[in-house]
Amino acid sequence: EIIEKGGFPHFMLKEIYDIPSSLISSYTSLMEKYLSLAAMIVYGAKNVYVIGNGTSLHAGLISSYYFSEVGINVNVVSAAEFPYYALQNIGTGSVIIAISQSGETSDVIRSVKMAKQRGSVIVGITNSVGSRLALESNIYLPITAGPELAVPATKTFTSTLVVLRTLSLYTGLNSGKKERYDLDQFKTDLEKLSSSLSSSLPQIERQAEDAVSKITKESIYVTSSGINFPVAMEGALKFKEASMIHAEGIQLGELLHGPIALTNKGYPIVIVKPAEEQAYDLYNKVIKSISDRGSPIISVSVDGMVKSVETTRELSPIANVVPLQLMAYKLGVKRSLPIDTPPGLVKAVVS
Ligand code: AGP
Repeated sequence: EIIEKGGFPHFMLKEIYDIPSSLISSYTSLMEKYLSLAAMIVYGAKNVYVIGNGTSLHAGLISSYYFSEVGINVNVVSAAEFPYYALQNIGTGSVIIAISQSGETSDVIRSVKMAKQRGSVIVGITNSVGSRLALESNIYLPITAGPELAVPATKTFTSTLVVLRTLSLYTGLNSGKKERYDLDQFKTDLEKLSSSLSSSLPQIERQAEDAVSKITKESIYVTSSGINFPVAMEGALKFKEASMIHAEGIQLGELLHGPIALTNKGYPIVIVKPAEEQAYDLYNKVIKSISDRGSPIISVSVDGMVKSVETTRELSPIANVVPLQLMAYKLGVKRSLPIDTPPGLVKAVVS
């Protein structure tokens, strides 16, 4: 086990440190012919649903921003809700993009089987080649993040985003919204992100450790807007699993519609700066409102208290989730928790 952890005290920390290299391995393992086929099918679909649970669902939510940019509206639904939500609309011509790092999650497999019975095409995205999801899929896109042993998912989330962004760019080739040049540019941006993350991780880890000293309550908000809103939800999920505190991922704008009532001197708020300039006014307004109420703010941005590395809007969820993962990890360490195996949780929920 010590060898498998590569000198790190926990799998979760090792797997966060794997992110820079896994981003590249995920991209290079994708095969052009499968991407093109999946993109053509997504483009020609009558309707598209993206399903998954937990972290995979959060990656799916981010993909809705990717697909809308290339002119495709996708419905993102928890695989646990899919059977009640959409079955009447599912048939031939429907495409289901099913995401599951384990490829074994029962909600996903159940929903995929139901959709298949109705004649839909399944595009499966999983980190496990021989999994049930890989076998049930009509087209399978591998995540290729390498084995992930900690229950709190980290590198599979960031690599899933690489797969989804690449698929959306290929779909954009069909819709005419993207060109080959955009694919080359994405590869360049991804390589840059991988190398700046790799050199910045130790510094981000130290900043994350300092920042969590502000979290003295059993409950926090994690907030953002735009493409980073699902990152706030993912950060909150990490705080629940690794630090075992209550954390709520919430949209910046929604914070003002009631939830701000809980904020006060002792109630910390983690704010991820949005990537979209249009959201800056709201961002500044929320910071002012919560500072006025005395809430300690932990800012995550290129110049924040915990620094994320500079990158494009589309890759910013990867840059921003890493500081959140490290904060959740550091708080778990501070609280002496079994971070890799939180009590009562399993890596894949299969029943
Ligand atoms: C993530 O940290 C959690 N352990 C959990 O929410 C997980 O993402 C969910 O159970 C889905 O797992 P899957 O991707 O293997 O289907």
